[in-house]
Amino acid sequence: TQLLHIVQNMPKAELHIHIEGSLEPELIFALAQRNGVPLSYPSVDALRAAYDFHDLQSFLDIYYAGASVLLKEQDFYDMTAAYLAKAKADHVRHTEIFFDPQTHTARGVPIGDVINGIHRACADSDVSATLILCFLRHLSEEDAFATLDAALPYRDKFIGVGLDSSEVGHPPEKFERVFARCRELGLHLVAHAGEEGPPAYIRAALDLLHVERIDHGVRCLEDVDLTRRIASEKMALTVCPLSNIKLRVFDHMREHNLLQLLDAGLVATVNSDDPAYFRGYVNANYVAAFESLPLGLQHAHQLAKNSFAASFLPQAEKDKYL
Ligand code: HPA
Ligand code: ZN
Repeated sequence: TQLLHIVQNMPKAELHIHIEGSLEPELIFALAQRNGVPLSYPSVDALRAAYDFHDLQSFLDIYYAGASVLLKEQDFYDMTAAYLAKAKADHVRHTEIFFDPQTHTARGVPIGDVINGIHRACADSDVSATLILCFLRHLSEEDAFATLDAALPYRDKFIGVGLDSSEVGHPPEKFERVFARCRELGLHLVAHAGEEGPPAYIRAALDLLHVERIDHGVRCLEDVDLTRRIASEKMALTVCPLSNIKLRVFDHMREHNLLQLLDAGLVATVNSDDPAYFRGYVNANYVAAFESLPLGLQHAHQLAKNSFAASFLPQAEKDKYL
């Protein structure tokens, strides 16, 4: 339809994409072969068939297994270049890419190889791309501090930090000190909150971590006061519709609360999260939402506008799109 055509072709920014989540099964197998890494799946099809999740943790287990084939700087380059080509095809003009260094340093990969490989692919792309280093929240704050220290020689190659991995049981307060340090360093701050975790985790991310965006955040609607606050502060939510269905945050796209978030005046955006695992890059997320929810042209324009407004682009760059 005309609306879906407009949604797919409109210039947009992507603000919630884990680069390790863009690793397609074909590339996992190619890198496994190139690096001599054994895989517990006999074929690309067998691996893809294992992408049957019932919650965040069941996804994370397979996502970390897939990332185990990444060893060399060139591997990180190839993965990122493949994502940026998909983003360009979806009319993404700017993307802020998450990466999980601890997933790789734990296997002995130098953090410089991780950052340089991803960054070099960004520099070679004609899509504007910046990097956000994410701490794994199932690990300790001490581990996060060590990761930050190891990354500081590459400070010019990332613009901010985030917080991802297993949410429930690992509330934002666990990372209050390391986020305070990142704030002093002038890094932008974001955190996953309110995906599987309760509204209290969103409050803690705002009050204790001082984040500038909430990743997911869809559970905020369970708390009327919190919703009002997020609206009045123009705090953006980076919503990932297909992820939320695959990880059963909502049972069906018809039940997704994207429209309620917009109707509540929130700066909601649409993003892909882990496109290789949830079977859809950013345009597939827009299309799935627009096909299942009563969203119209105004919503399309609002979502595109929100994506640039909520980005960390300099104001003059944002203004070109707003
Ligand atoms: N939530 C938490 N951690 C993640 C996700 C997510 O959606 N994707 C990759 N790591
Ligand atoms: Zn995410």
